[in-house]
Amino acid sequence: MKIVLGPASKELGEKIAELTGIEKVPVAHKTFPDGETYIRLESPIQDDHVVIVQTTSPPQDSRLIQLAFMADAAKRNGASKVTAVVPYLAYARQDKIFLKGETISIETVAHMLSAAGVDALITVNVHSANALTKFPFPAKTLSAIPLLAEHFTRRGFTKAFALAPDKGAMHIAEEAKKILGGECGHLEKQRDRYTGQVNVAKKAFNVKGATVIIFDDIISTGGTIVGAAKILKELGAKRVFAACVHPLLIGDAEKRILEAGVEEIVGTDSVTSHVSKVSLAPLISKELKALQSG
Ligand code: R5P
Repeated sequence: MKIVLGPASKELGEKIAELTGIEKVPVAHKTFPDGETYIRLESPIQDDHVVIVQTTSPPQDSRLIQLAFMADAAKRNGASKVTAVVPYLAYARQDKIFLKGETISIETVAHMLSAAGVDALITVNVHSANALTKFPFPAKTLSAIPLLAEHFTRRGFTKAFALAPDKGAMHIAEEAKKILGGECGHLEKQRDRYTGQVNVAKKAFNVKGATVIIFDDIISTGGTIVGAAKILKELGAKRVFAACVHPLLIGDAEKRILEAGVEEIVGTDSVTSHVSKVSLAPLISKELKALQSG
């Protein structure tokens, strides 16, 4: 097995290589003056199972093309198998037709990666498990929620209330609760499919004076966390934290979240950000070691 250090996840790839002892394959890459992407694998991978570590957070499209080019380069140079480790899987939220005339974006991405030479995919906290059914090859998701919850227990936040901003994220809050040892619950959220505007509805929770950690898979514009944090503050929560696997933090999301009363945002290195305080390296390394020995 060899680890290709995708340009979007070079540091994470380095950490995984260090933890697993798997040999690294450096990648030369550049963007041509006209915007096109160039990729070259810098060491031999003949007959190797090649694992490409490349997240697809913004800029999603160029990172997907880099991933496809790395997979193709691996196969052309004799790789026996290509596994893509894509911590943040772009387009996983468009896993079905919501409005007439749309595409199932993740299905197109899946077929593009297959055509490029990817044989298997590992992602982390994919937005919907249904997205993985669109891949024509084995695709699985790992969960970083225990790592995020452990980050908080190490800091003494045992028994904190784990809150999901909507019903769909309740399984995440339940996973966190197992580590935190407190209570958990969810709010109700609605998003306007045309404007993207988020509305989080108030619900009665006994969080007066409590420490609450809002858990979600993605923080994008921050609208979801802002809505949830405002409600928690109205309900009398003393301290509010936000934890997410994929801190996209678009535009002024972080500022708005902090202004809504969140003390701190904790994310993972699925997306490189100053809030990426938890590394996915141990989780992914464990998976790769199991693959090696299996
Ligand atoms: C969607 O349901 C996801 O789980 C997140 O809640 C959502 O992507 C967050 O987006 P935003 O930060 O823009 O509200």
